[in-house]
Amino acid sequence: MSAALLRLTDRAPHQTLEIQSAGAGLTGRIRVPGDKSISHRALMLGAIAAGETRIQGLLLGEDPRSTARCFRAMGAEISDLEAEWVSIRGRGVGQLQEPADVLDAGNSGTTMRLMLGLLAAQPDSVFTVTGDGSLRSRPMDRVIQPLGQMGANIWGRQGNRLAPLAIRGQRLRPIHYHSPIASAQVKSCILLAGLNTAGDTTVTEPSLSRDHSERMLRAFGARLSVDPVTCSVTLHGPAQLSGQTVIVPSDISSAAFWLVAAAILPDSELVVENVGVNPTRTGILDVLQQMEADLTLENQREVTGEPIADIRIRTSQLKACTVGGDLIPRMIDEVPILAVAALFAKGTTVIQDAAELRVKESDRIAVMAAQLGRLGATLTERPDGLEIPGGQSLSGAEVDSDTDHRIAMSLAIAALRAQGTTQIHRAEAAAVSYPTFIDTLRTLLQS
Ligand code: S3P
Repeated sequence: MSAALLRLTDRAPHQTLEIQSAGAGLTGRIRVPGDKSISHRALMLGAIAAGETRIQGLLLGEDPRSTARCFRAMGAEISDLEAEWVSIRGRGVGQLQEPADVLDAGNSGTTMRLMLGLLAAQPDSVFTVTGDGSLRSRPMDRVIQPLGQMGANIWGRQGNRLAPLAIRGQRLRPIHYHSPIASAQVKSCILLAGLNTAGDTTVTEPSLSRDHSERMLRAFGARLSVDPVTCSVTLHGPAQLSGQTVIVPSDISSAAFWLVAAAILPDSELVVENVGVNPTRTGILDVLQQMEADLTLENQREVTGEPIADIRIRTSQLKACTVGGDLIPRMIDEVPILAVAALFAKGTTVIQDAAELRVKESDRIAVMAAQLGRLGATLTERPDGLEIPGGQSLSGAEVDSDTDHRIAMSLAIAALRAQGTTQIHRAEAAAVSYPTFIDTLRTLLQS
C-alpha cells in the first residue's frame, strides 16, 4: 500500500480532513487525552465541594470547557484549564450563585443533564440552560421527569422535552427512581439532586452504567450504598463534600479508535498507555477479545479510585460477533468504531439493543450506515443497531461527520483502510472529546 497522506483544509468554521489509505501499520506507544466523563465530574464536584480540588490530566476538549464555563458563571473559582494542575475553589453543596446569563452547555449532554440535578435542588435561584443545535434536539425529559417526581420546577420546549430550559431551584424530596434506561447521565443527575436533599435518593437501572459518579462522590465524602445485584445506588442526603485530588486517566473511548486502527491495519503493534479500565467502561475490550483481537492489558494499577492499564494491541484477523444486552451500556460510545472493525472481520457482526445510539450527538446508527455506505460498505440499519458483513473493501469518498466527534474519528480510521482518498467534512467535531486526534494520527502515520 502507498504511504498515508493527511491534509487539513480550513473553511472556517469547518475543517475537511483528507486521508489517503495507510501504508504500514501503527507502531509505538501513545497516550490519549483525559477521560471525558471523569473530567466533567471532577469539575462539577470540585465546584460544589468545600475547599480546594486539584485535577491533573483534565480533558481539554470542548465538552469539559463547557462545564467549566457554566460553573465559573455560578461562582466556582476554576484556574486556567491549560495548567498541569487545575485548581478549583468550590462553593459548597447548594451554594452555587444564580448566574447573570444563560448557561450554555455547548454540545455536551453530560454537562446539561448532570448540571440539571444540581440546579433543580438549589432553592431561591433561577437558571436558564441551552446548548448547540445537536444538544437542543436531544431528549431532556429523561431527567426532567424524575426530577419532577422530586418536586423540581423545570420548563422546556415541546412539553418539557427539549432545551432551552428554565429551572426554578427549590428543596426537593427524595425518590426511588426506576430508570427505564441504563444511563449514567440519568443516574448521576438524580444522585446529584440528592446531595442537597434530606433522605435517601435511590436510582435503580436495568443494567449497570458507568459508575464514575459513585466512585467520585464517595471520595469527596458523600455516603452511598450500592447494590450490584439490583443495579441500585442510594445517596444518603444531605451531603457535605470536601475538595479532593483527582488524577484523570486517559479515556478508553478515545483509545478505542487506535485499538481498532491497529487491529485492522497490517504490521501494527501499539501500546496505548494509562487508559482507564473501569469495568463499567471496558465492553469494547471484551468485544475485541471475543473477536479474537491480539490485545493484552499491562501494568494494571489504581489511581485516585479508578483502575488503569496500558493496552497492547497487534494486527489481528478479527472474527464477527453478536453484541447486545448488558454489554451495550459498557461500550455505548464505542459502537461507531466497532462498526468499522466489523467491516474487516470474518463473518457478519450484529449490534443490537443499542437504540440509545439514535439520541447521541447524532443518530449514530443512521449516520454510520450512511457514511460507511458512501465509502462503499454494505451494512444494514436495524431499529436498535446494525448488521455488518465482514471482509469488505472500501473506496475513498467524501463523507461528513454530521458534527458528531465520534463519527468524525471513526470515519478517519475507516479511511485508513479505504483505497484512494477520503475527505471527511466537518472533521473539527473531533475536538469535543479529542482535540489532538489529528496530531496523533499524523505522528502515527509518519513513524
Ligand atoms: C456519559 C454517559 C453516556 C455516554 C456519554 C457520557 C457520562 O451517556 O454516552 O458520552 O459521562 O455519564 P448516557 O448516560 O446517556 O448513556
